[in-house]
This record gives sequence, C-alpha cells and structure tokens, in this order.
Amino acid sequence: MNSEQVRKIFLEYFTKLGHTVVQSSPVVPLDDPTLLFTNAGMNQFKDIFVGKIACPYEPPRAASTQKCIRVSGKHNDLEEVGKDEYHHTFFEMLGNWSFGDYFKQEAIQWAWELLTEQYKIPPEKLWAAVHYDDKESAQIWKNIIGLDERKIVRCGDEDNFWEMAETGPCGPTTEIHYDWGEKFDPDQSALPNSSPRFVEVWNIVFMQYFRNPDGSLDPLPAKNVDTGMGFERLVAILQGTRDDYSTDLFAPMIDTIAEISGHRYDENDRIRMAFRVLADHIRALAFAIADGALPGNTGRGYVLRRILRRAARFSRILDIHKPIVWKLVSPLIDKMGPIYPELLEKAPVITHIIKSEEERFGKTLDYGIELFEEIADRVISAGENEISGEDAFKLYDTYGFPLDLTRLMASERGLTVNMDEFEGLMEQQRQRARSTGTFSVEHQKKQDWIKITDGEDSYNLCYETESTEAEIRLFRRLSDDKIEIVLSQTPFYAESGGQIGDTGKIYNKFYNLNVIDTRYEGEHIVHICAADNAGQSMNILENIRAHPQVKAEIEHQRRDAIRKNHTATHLLHRALRSVLGTHIRQAGSMVAHDRLRFDYTHYETPTIDQLEKIERIVNEVIQNNLPVSTQITSYQDAIDEGAIALFGEKYGSKVRMVKINDFSKELCGGTHIDSTGKLGLFLITDEQNIGSGMRRIEAITGLTAVHYAQSIRRKWSEIKRKLSATEDEVLDRLDKLFDELSDIRKKQEKLSDARAETTAENLLESALQIEQSKVIISKVTVRSRDELLKIVSDLEKNVSSGVILLGAVLQDGKVAFVCSVTEDMINSNNIKAGEIVRQVATVAGGSGGGRPDFAQAGGNNPKKLDSALKLAEKIILHKIRN
Ligand code: ALA
Repeated sequence: MNSEQVRKIFLEYFTKLGHTVVQSSPVVPLDDPTLLFTNAGMNQFKDIFVGKIACPYEPPRAASTQKCIRVSGKHNDLEEVGKDEYHHTFFEMLGNWSFGDYFKQEAIQWAWELLTEQYKIPPEKLWAAVHYDDKESAQIWKNIIGLDERKIVRCGDEDNFWEMAETGPCGPTTEIHYDWGEKFDPDQSALPNSSPRFVEVWNIVFMQYFRNPDGSLDPLPAKNVDTGMGFERLVAILQGTRDDYSTDLFAPMIDTIAEISGHRYDENDRIRMAFRVLADHIRALAFAIADGALPGNTGRGYVLRRILRRAARFSRILDIHKPIVWKLVSPLIDKMGPIYPELLEKAPVITHIIKSEEERFGKTLDYGIELFEEIADRVISAGENEISGEDAFKLYDTYGFPLDLTRLMASERGLTVNMDEFEGLMEQQRQRARSTGTFSVEHQKKQDWIKITDGEDSYNLCYETESTEAEIRLFRRLSDDKIEIVLSQTPFYAESGGQIGDTGKIYNKFYNLNVIDTRYEGEHIVHICAADNAGQSMNILENIRAHPQVKAEIEHQRRDAIRKNHTATHLLHRALRSVLGTHIRQAGSMVAHDRLRFDYTHYETPTIDQLEKIERIVNEVIQNNLPVSTQITSYQDAIDEGAIALFGEKYGSKVRMVKINDFSKELCGGTHIDSTGKLGLFLITDEQNIGSGMRRIEAITGLTAVHYAQSIRRKWSEIKRKLSATEDEVLDRLDKLFDELSDIRKKQEKLSDARAETTAENLLESALQIEQSKVIISKVTVRSRDELLKIVSDLEKNVSSGVILLGAVLQDGKVAFVCSVTEDMINSNNIKAGEIVRQVATVAGGSGGGRPDFAQAGGNNPKKLDSALKLAEKIILHKIRN
C-alpha cells in the first residue's frame, strides 16, 4: 500500500463516520504566540477546545492530515532525528476530533477498527497504554476491544498525559503501540514506552483540561477527543519495514542522496544517520519556507537555520563538501507537491533560500570542522579523552555545530564531551537571551515626574484632530533647556509602529513650548519640549504650575508628509508582494516626514526591472486616487478579510485595519491620508542588502519626490552640458571618453617605460664599480612613482651584485626613495635597504622602511633630496670599504 492510499483510507474512514475533513493549517502558526511551529493536528482547533469560538462542524467532528514540525518548545525531536528509524523534524499527523461529541469508547473503538479492519494490521501486533488514573479506558480496551489484559500497560503523566505547549489544552491519553517483535528486544518482559521493540503509532487524547501559566489545571468547557497518528510510522508498518526512511515517502530523497554522494543508505550506522538527517531535514525546511518562514537569527528563523546547518554538517559525513540540501527540494516536491500544492507554488523560492543559505554557511562549516580537529588533536595529545563543554559550546555558538554532531564526531575519535559544562553554558546563554529580551535601556538617569494637575492623562486624539485644548498633568526636566510634558489629552502621535513622533507646540498666553519629539513611556504620551527662549526654562515649572491650561497643536505640514509616507509604505509592501512574491515579509520600517524605509525578507537582489515595476504599481494606485479608510475590528475578522498582520507582532482582541480600497489591507496603528492621490509621486531612492536575508528599500513621496527628481534633472543637464551631448548621445560620449582615456594611459605607460629604460641605461653606465659590485645612488626625474619603480626593476636585472638607491621629486612635490640591495651585499657588507631608506627619509623630512633587500620611503622636503642621497652614499661606501 503506498502512502497516498494510506492517507486516503484514513480520511474516507472518518468522513463516513460524520467527520468534516479539514485542510492542514500552515506549519507556521501566525496567530499563536505560544508556538513557533505547528506541532499537532489539534493546534488549529485550539480556540474551539477552549470555548473561544463555537465549533463550525455539524456534527462537531473533524479529521485531517496535518503538517507538523517538532523542533522547539515542549515537543522537540531535533537532536533525535537520524539516530533511529522513526523520529522526524517534520511529519504528518493523521487525526480525528470530537468537540464535546463522542468520547472514549468511540475514539478507541474506531481507532482499533481502522487499524485492524481497514489497514489490516494483525491485532496480535497491537498493544495499548493507558494512564494510571484512567480506569475507563482500560476497561474499554479489555471488555469492548477484547485486548489481553497483559497487553494493556499503565503509565504515568510522562507517557500518557499530553499537552500542547507550556500553557493550553491538555488531557490524559491512551496510546496504541506496534510490536516489532523479539528481534528488537529479546527481553520477555519488554513493554511499550520503555522498549525499542514497540513503536507508538496512535495517541488518543481525552482533551479535558487547560494548563494555566501557573501550572494549575482548569476543566475545559467540554470533554473532547484529540487523536494523532504518526503517518510515517503507519506507512512503514503497512509497507513491512520498521524504518520510516525506507518507505516511499523518503525514497526519492534517499535515492538522490545516494546518487550525489556515491554512498549506500545501508552502508553503516554512521552513513545511515547522515542519509536520514538529510532526507528528514529537507522536509522541515521546505514546508516551513513554503508557509512563510525564513532562516534568520532569532526565534523561528534561528531554528530553521539550525536545521539547515545540521543537515549541511551531516553532508560532510558523506564526503559532500558542496551545497546539497537544496538538491533535495526537487525529489521532495515530486513526491509531496501533488498533496501539498504550496510546495509546488513556492518551489523556486524554497530552492533559492536553501541554496544561498547553504552557500553562506559552507565556509563557516569548514572552519568549524578544522577547529574541531584541532580541539580533538589537542585533547588526544594531552592524553585525555574528553572535549570540554566550553569547546563544544564554542563550536555550537560560533560555528553552528549541533551538539549531537560534536558528540558524534568526538565518539569517532574515541572522545566524549563534558555535557554538564556544556549544559551550564547553554543555560547561561538562555538567561542572557531572556534578560536582553526584557532589558529596557535607561539612557540617562531622569528626574521623577512632578504632578501638575490631577486626572487621567494621555487621552489619544491623534486620529481625530491636529489641535486641542488640554491640561498639563505631569512635568519632568530633561536638561537645562529640555523638559517633558504629559497632557490630559493630545493630538500628538507618539513614535510607534515605525512612524516617528509628531512635533508641534504646546502653548498659552504665558509660555510657548516647542515639541521636538513625542514618545510613549508605558501608557503615557510624553512630549519632549524645548522652551521657546533661554532663561524662560529656568522658571518654567512655576509658570506651568500657575497656568496648566494649554493648547496643543501639531505641526500640520510635517504630519501631512508623514501620513503620505505611511500610506506609501503600505502601497510599497503590497507592490513588493505582488512583484517579488508573497513570501515577502515586513521586517521593519521607518516612516518619517522626508522619507520612508522598508525592511523586508527576500533572498536575492531585485532586478532594476522589478524595482521599476514596483514603483509603477505604486504610482498607478496613486493616480487612481483610491480611498484610504480605517476600521476597528476583531483580529480574526481582519485576518479572514485578508489583512496582513506583522509577523511576530502581538495584537489585542480589537485591531485597527487600514484599507486602501481593495488594493491593500494591513493591521496598523499609524496615521494615513484619506486618498492615495495626495501622495502625488512615489520614487524609490535606494535598495540594498542589510544582511541575514533582509533587504531595505528607501523611498520618498510628494514634494520631496519632486525636489529629488528636479535635483537629478539639474545634475543631468550639467552632465550633458559638460559633455556637449544631447540626451541620446551622453552614454556614447562617455564610452568614447573612457576609451580615449584608456588609450592615453596606455601610451603614457609605454612612454614612461621607454623613459625608464633610458634612465636605467644611463645610470648603469655611470655606476660606481667597486670590485664585483655596482653602486648606483642618484636623483632621477620621473613622472610617477611607478616610473621610479620601473627604473629600479630595470636596474636590478643588470646588477647581480650591488646597491641601488634612487630618489625623486614626484608630481605632488613629495620626495620618494627606493632602495634595492643584492643578497651578497646584505650578507657580507651588512647593507640593508630598509635601514638606508629610513636614514635618507629622515633627512628629507619623512619616514619609511622595509625589507633588507628592498624598501621604499617618502619625504616632505624636496630641497633635502640631494643631501639625503649624499649621506646615503657616505654610509654605503663606508660599509663597502670597511
Ligand atoms: N495532539 C496529540 C498529539 O500530538 C494527539 O500527540
């Protein structure tokens, strides 16, 4: 039975039993901050279990095959994968659910019948595990199913209590295990959950509780059933193999790896593990990327990066030193694409991302391997047999070496790893990570707030008005000329969501405060003000105390420009998605009055055509003058309507959705214009790579864009005028100029070579001959340093024993010396080029040095050139004659 049939039988069986077949949810859960990856079929039903939403299925039953990734948090199998035949990072979970409908008896009975009657697994192969406290399930197994009492094992919470995450729905379980026989454990007393002889196939959870953050349990509104069967394990059983990796699900990848590496899967344990890691990890990577995740430095991205690196490292065991993981995308998609079309759709993106990430990591990996070998050599030659936790941690932290790999490599060289030390360092790192996560930066020690008037503060009017009457509630002095003010209500937008804070003024008859920035401090909206004139600030507190009633008014034009740029940011985001693909995610943004900056995830440089297209799309929307509206709605309604929420951002139950007609919908708290036409013009001014798979676009709108275009036109006219060329001629003219320039340069080089040659000949003729050696010390006239060097090199060819020292005044008025000494003169006369140039340079007001056989130096005083050379001559001749 192939895997496609196994899936089909499951869904058909539960459809017949009144279950609605539900599509798998993405492996990247966008709306559940408690999860990095979808880890069970029930995730998408969490809100139904906890009673947040009503069950939409009638009867209230569902079934699905869910894409799951278990590499983080409560369910993390990453380090296990490869060691055995049945652990995976990515797997499919077959599941059926009852939302307050059927309970234990049906759940157990149907599972049993499906396995034994539909899939025809011999009943004697199946065992059950139940929770100690769950007498009812044990009874059902015994009396209704007729399972031999001996084959019903009782376990504790560790095996038979299932929880989705640290908090969330949970409950006791009963499991069905498959017995692979004595071959895997001859011990006659072997039992499920403790012996390799048994593999858990199906987990049936009686979802009854909710785990609170403090660890306590609350009953759920209803008694539910949540089941999960390991699809890969089931397929393996039905295909008569204990090894999931030998089923048709993994065969295409295993075959490809064999082809590329020239190794066989069953060669030995070490090779087998590498095959499994690669065949497994490609699935987690491809599915995660297809659902919108990207490798990165934090959270989900970091986990993906580790998976990829683990795979890349294991490829070295197969003697593959080039990127290979990306080559497994295609066999995977051939197999799974027909079932999960998102893989087909995103195939080029998946391939690209994996390949470029692998290429980048390759070098680090090779350094890491080198480092490991050094460490291992050091340990062995010291007669020890343990790699320190510190070294293992360094490999992990700096070179991305997974611990299991370091241990494996260590064991290959007969070494162990100090795990306690490693764990200690990991814990320290976790604590560091936690503390940086919550660490709030106190830039300066501030004074305490002084209360001016009583009452609520910071009522936010930024969406409604640009000026208002208000009362000053709090005052704080920042410096001699800066103070901070909190108002009863305010039209000022405080910096958030990438949009900069407003400026404006807070004033009355008695004083005038220029607001230079507005920020949040907790719930307070803080206006940072500079007092209007010096001196006033000294008694401003008294003034404010006496007259707390003010008018608060934002700078209209600046806000207007900010609004335009914020709306433009949404347009850009949307256009990027339609031109580069929906994998694009906003990674950060900055909306100011004079520009906008948008950081996004993408794996390659957009072409100029793509950038122009993006710009055109945005400008079309501007010309179509689409209405921009905002709406307060529930998070779910907004998402259902297709609104884009920011990745990783936490939203409250009510959200603000900014709609640009049907073109764009985003959850956003910023201020916007009411129609796109007001943007006037949108221009991209820069696009660049900012690292870690992220890119940045800078753009401008409105009059700023007009000014920008004008300044470019001005420069363009200037270029045309200088080149005396029309628009069409400019590029040709430039090409021609460059050609001419390069011709001239070539001619000059030839000339200077010829000149150098003549000079060298003349110098050679007038050289001082002392026995076998020549001494050439002279001032020369040259046009460049290169020419000077050329003369020296020409001379060197003709001087087999001797000293050459030339000095020249260069075009910039500086002095240059070059000295060359042959080997024999260094040895027998102790003449060193480096020393000589240092001495001459000192005379000519400069410095220099170099090797004994060749050295250069410079000086600032051309008048001293002659005397410097004279001095050198004296030193050299003295050395030769003595
Ligand atoms: N949610 C249960 C599990 O994942 C069925 O095992």
